[in-house]
Amino acid sequence: MVKPSVFVTRRWPAAVEAELAKSYNTTFNTDDQPLAPCQIREAVKRYDAVLPTVTDKLTAEALDAPKVQTKLLANYGVGFSHIDTGRASDLGITITNTPDVLSECTADLAMTLMLMVARRAGEGERELREGAWTGWRPTHLVGTKVSGKTLGIVGFGRIGQEMAKRAHFGFGMKILVQNRSPVRQDILDRYNAVQMPTLEDLLPESDFVSLHCPGGPANRNLMNNARFDLMKPDAFLINTARGEVVDEMALAQSLMFETIGGAALDVFDGEPRINPTLAQCDNLVMLPHLGSATREAREAMGFRVLDNLNDFFAGRAPRDRVA
Ligand code: DGY
Repeated sequence: MVKPSVFVTRRWPAAVEAELAKSYNTTFNTDDQPLAPCQIREAVKRYDAVLPTVTDKLTAEALDAPKVQTKLLANYGVGFSHIDTGRASDLGITITNTPDVLSECTADLAMTLMLMVARRAGEGERELREGAWTGWRPTHLVGTKVSGKTLGIVGFGRIGQEMAKRAHFGFGMKILVQNRSPVRQDILDRYNAVQMPTLEDLLPESDFVSLHCPGGPANRNLMNNARFDLMKPDAFLINTARGEVVDEMALAQSLMFETIGGAALDVFDGEPRINPTLAQCDNLVMLPHLGSATREAREAMGFRVLDNLNDFFAGRAPRDRVA
């Protein structure tokens, strides 16, 4: 039987690449650079499946090839707001993602960011590297205690729940939740969490706000000027979701005028470009989209893509179909 042809847009962990190549006629983008729209068009014209990542913008325009060979877009990653799912569905393309396997690592990174910004770890590290540390003193880089505080979690899917687990059991935090649909009471009870009716109810009550909702047009600028104004003046925002969920100019203003305590971001609107105003804010920690960046998660993500491919080409419903 002829092996289906598969195009992988970025380099993957070696073990997964080897496994993929055994069952599929696999082409890797050896440049390991994000695909340009014309390369995406070429890929969907030529390959049975394309395996993109967050860096490939699969817009309606990019998918608009005269003849589309691709039947499956098996995304390497859980978030898929970089894919125009409506256009892909119109073209008869199935879309899958890789949930579950990165939830723990992404929540670990959100905790890292929360602790870093609360304890001013980024500022301290910068000071040391600049050779500016003059020694211990009682008033030096005094931060905020995390244990026992209130954490508002926006988006209570798998990653949001892992965040709640860490914060509740590890740090004795009170958990508030905002989610687009009602969360089952038994799930809330696991973390002694309270679901708030709206974001407007959650923000004024939270010492830390951690975003775990999807990106895409529906959540663009979810955190805007009006909502930053609702946060406590010493509260912190953590974003490991998608850059577009935060209005970055509104955030930069809130940081500069110190109407909130600080923020920590792993994702940026239009990344890897960084809004230069943000980079001037001392009370901001920034990481380069490292949420799932562990050996374990990145391998598991690859094997999860492989599971979806195997299901699809064996005529079964792929376990992680999202459109
Ligand atoms: C994810 O899995 O969504 C990561 O952010 C990488 O895309």
